[in-house]
Amino acid sequence: MQRTYIKDLAQKAGQEVSISGWVDIRRDQGKMVFFDFRDVSGKVQGVVLSGNKEALESAKEIRSEWVVQVTGKVNKRPEKNIQKDKQNGDIELEILSIKVLNEALTPPFDVRSDGKEIGEENRLKYRYLDLRRPRMQRNIIMRDKIITFFREYMHKNNFVEIETPILMKGTPEGSREYLVPSRLEKGKFYALPQSPQQFKQLSMVAGFDRYFQIARCMRDEDLRGDRQPEFTQLDFEMSFVNQEDILNYTEPMMIELVKTLFPEKTFTQLPFPRITYKECMEKYGSDKPDLRKDKNNPNELAFAWVVDFPMFEKTDDGEIQAAHHPFCSIKEEDVSKFMAGEDLMSIRANSYDLVLNGYELSSGSIRIHKSDMQKKVFELLQISEEEQQQKFTHMLEAFKYGAPPHGGFAPGIDRIVMLLLGEPNIREVIAYPKTGEGKDLMMNAPSEASAKQLKELGIKLVE
Ligand code: AMO
Repeated sequence: MQRTYIKDLAQKAGQEVSISGWVDIRRDQGKMVFFDFRDVSGKVQGVVLSGNKEALESAKEIRSEWVVQVTGKVNKRPEKNIQKDKQNGDIELEILSIKVLNEALTPPFDVRSDGKEIGEENRLKYRYLDLRRPRMQRNIIMRDKIITFFREYMHKNNFVEIETPILMKGTPEGSREYLVPSRLEKGKFYALPQSPQQFKQLSMVAGFDRYFQIARCMRDEDLRGDRQPEFTQLDFEMSFVNQEDILNYTEPMMIELVKTLFPEKTFTQLPFPRITYKECMEKYGSDKPDLRKDKNNPNELAFAWVVDFPMFEKTDDGEIQAAHHPFCSIKEEDVSKFMAGEDLMSIRANSYDLVLNGYELSSGSIRIHKSDMQKKVFELLQISEEEQQQKFTHMLEAFKYGAPPHGGFAPGIDRIVMLLLGEPNIREVIAYPKTGEGKDLMMNAPSEASAKQLKELGIKLVE
């Protein structure tokens, strides 16, 4: 018999069906055995009646989390037994036979609760069980819906998804890079992308006009609730645009996302307010202010734009670095100061952030598209001629071959999903996240490499 998903059982009253899934709970009442069965689409109650000796015998052996295939008849429940607020609360499966497809050990924790009472180490070690809980199923399925919304929205607006390399040379985004040793060229390393920044700009030089990618980014940085060593961006770039164009493209997309998938949510202010970085720091003491009117309302969304970020900043050791990244263009009013190399800390970039409820959701900028301007930024950042050649020749050269004006943005998908689902950290919306120490407890990564692998790579470890 063909498999029926549990969510479709209600339409099959009176019929014989076959379902496949897990035993959620078993309640043995002696003469009868009740079950809740679970599949990806939901839960249903089943019962083995006292007359069905064969099924009753196997029902008594079966335990929670065993995998079963059940045939049965879908019965309407009598009025007094209807549970209105429960999925399939008006039907019951009268079990005719149960086939055990696989037995299961007792799980190390309850997979039916919301999981907040269980230590995270244990949850991450047995993530494949932790993901069975309804809250985690909802989170991962909603994440897919959000990503699908973005993909369709970008395609409707003529963006082309381009996959960019994971093994690359590294892009400066202000964090440490992960390195991958090359076997064929011993002593040399690839870097994993902190973002596809350079490739997306080069794709504009290539004439694609509108690029996007659901992009994986890797950064070796200290972790927090809203940071993972690998995370996902809706990365995009457009040619022949100014800042206004990017903001005017992004804002309706975010509004439509919320209205389509989270109609119960409300916006604190529409259109999203725009605040300069300077005003923002003076007024709120932060570049990611939480502008909600009622912070206890889980459905309130306070989006805001922060614009005119400084181009440069000083590190704790007094060194100068790019506040966002070195590819941002300079605001027209500040170009003369920039060319003269004066008063660097007051120079503003054409760069902008989108903030939501006190989190930085996204950053972007209009880029430099001329080689001499790009060189000037590298010089002011005290990147030597030699280092420029070694790290950025491809960018400096590409800008000499007819690079169009361009700019882009990169909303962090994990943070968007976390905020829209009201979860306290991004680990709750990533299927297989790392711990705060950057470990994968399920696979036990990172782990040692064998002596053979190290030899092949030409690597010797120091104690
Ligand atoms: P930026 O570095 O600001 O910009 O990153 C953009 C957005 O990505 C998300 N994000 C993270 N999410 C989870 N864990 C992390 N460790 C993490 N780091 C960043 C945030 C952030 O706002 N290439 C530029 C974008 C551009 O200029 O177009 C970039 O990556 O939501």
